[in-house]
Amino acid sequence: MSPWYKLQNEEQADSPSLLIYKERVASNIQKMIDIAGNAERLYPHVKTNKMPEVVKMMLAAGISKFKCATIAEAEMAAMAGAKYVVVAHQLMGPKVKRLLAFRQQYPDVFVGSLIDSASVAKEHNDVFGASGLVSDVFLDVNNGMDRSGHALDGDILALYQLLYQLPNISCHGLHIYDGHLRTPDFESRRHEVEDGFVDVQHFLEAIAEAGLPRPILVAGGTPTFTVHALNAEIYCSPGTCVLWDWGYGDKLPEQPFEYAALVLTRVISKPKAGFITVDMGHKAVAAENPIDKRIRFLNLENYELVGQSEEHGVIRVENWKTINVGDVLYGVPFHVCPTVNLYDEAYVVENQSVVDTWQVLGRKRRITV
Ligand SMILES: Cc1ncc(COP(=O)(O)O)c(C=O)c1O
Repeated sequence: MSPWYKLQNEEQADSPSLLIYKERVASNIQKMIDIAGNAERLYPHVKTNKMPEVVKMMLAAGISKFKCATIAEAEMAAMAGAKYVVVAHQLMGPKVKRLLAFRQQYPDVFVGSLIDSASVAKEHNDVFGASGLVSDVFLDVNNGMDRSGHALDGDILALYQLLYQLPNISCHGLHIYDGHLRTPDFESRRHEVEDGFVDVQHFLEAIAEAGLPRPILVAGGTPTFTVHALNAEIYCSPGTCVLWDWGYGDKLPEQPFEYAALVLTRVISKPKAGFITVDMGHKAVAAENPIDKRIRFLNLENYELVGQSEEHGVIRVENWKTINVGDVLYGVPFHVCPTVNLYDEAYVVENQSVVDTWQVLGRKRRITV
């Protein structure tokens, strides 16, 4: 029997290409629901897959809320049928106007976004207020990643209060992304996550003392998912686990997900003894990491990717004589989210055959809004 990833109709797959193994996506979605305990607790981040068809699979599995990084991803999800999306960014200037346009174009879709500063909250209040609408927001909390969010300091309660005072703002909860916590050992990671929540708990107590409504909590990505899932109060927002990748596969041993997205590439030259060239340059696999952390081939042994240009990847190999021009290689991307983002469309694989193509619609910066 051929290995799980090998296509029966390989000749139909142009290269380089992105392969989406549909059965594995379905199984990863089910595992994500099982870990969460129920689909209601999930806000999967669609930045990983960016595909309406994957969002439809999640909707069919009972997931109804989604996170995204851009207004285009929110629109992609809405076009797929999602009725609840949160743009996990603080939107300002032209983006507040786009958010308003989204609200007007998709009136039956809840669209939230993040706030961590009073000036942006007031901007939303003014822009939405002028149209007689309300901007739905989550207060973004920085609990240690130091990338975005308001610090858990003496001023954060005042911002939370402001969100309840502004008439055209509706605050729905706290957004807490602890994506910096990736220690492979689960127990150590669990302690780190819990330590990171001590000040969040203090903030929740201060909110209660101030007589304000208790916010819902939307927290984490894939590495901290298995910890947050243990706390029934937390809504979980993993994204990568739906497709899975080499980076997380090696780092998160307790997580049961399977590789569901691969890059297919062909050997296009054997420029000198010991070296092959594939048509997988850095336009075909995410290149934000050093060269040894981009792709892991499943059907090649004893090799080293030594160079990449836009359309070429040069690989030093031990079994050079047995490799032929035209051979197909299957690789697991180290970081799947930006790899998917490089493709307009993906081949869909079922029963080891390409059966369809799916648009990676959410990679656009703008769809219609
Ligand atoms: C704010 C936010 N939430 C959730 C996620 C999903 O995290 P992961 O890719 O670890 O699943 C990300 C990923 O970057 C993110 O930025």
